[in-house]
Amino acid sequence: MNKRVQAAESIILHHGANREELVQILLDIQKEIRWLPKDVLELVSRRLKIPISTIYGVATFYAHFSLHPRGSHNVCVCVGTACHVRGAPRLLDRVKGELGIAPGETTKDEKFSLTTANCLGCCALGPVLVADGEYKSNPDSAELRAYVQSVE
Ligand code: FES
Repeated sequence: MNKRVQAAESIILHHGANREELVQILLDIQKEIRWLPKDVLELVSRRLKIPISTIYGVATFYAHFSLHPRGSHNVCVCVGTACHVRGAPRLLDRVKGELGIAPGETTKDEKFSLTTANCLGCCALGPVLVADGEYKSNPDSAELRAYVQSVE
């Protein structure tokens, strides 16, 4: 049994393998291992005696869940209209260059994920990104590199 499956097993046990708590179990697994791997979903299906198709239905319904590895650090670039006209495409290109990944991808070492959003609620700062909860207004390549190198 790999570490991810072990972690999921203890979360399922914590919830008493209660099928009524499927969403909460998936939330806890997502929080613990940052995504929902196939072998983990199969375990949830067996332990809760819920068809795997139902599990996938829930996992794909909520945007919070990910069926792909997510990095321990997330960089989210706003590509909304206000940021777009202020240079979001160039900012996104700089971030892609520094991380070496495209939106929706995670670095091989699972350190960083890159996502986009349609508005981060701070249009006046645009173009803007949020990295690990910290908003950065139009960071240049040097600032981005400093962030990437500062992360453990
Ligand atoms: S459009 Fe980018 S923060 Fe609103």
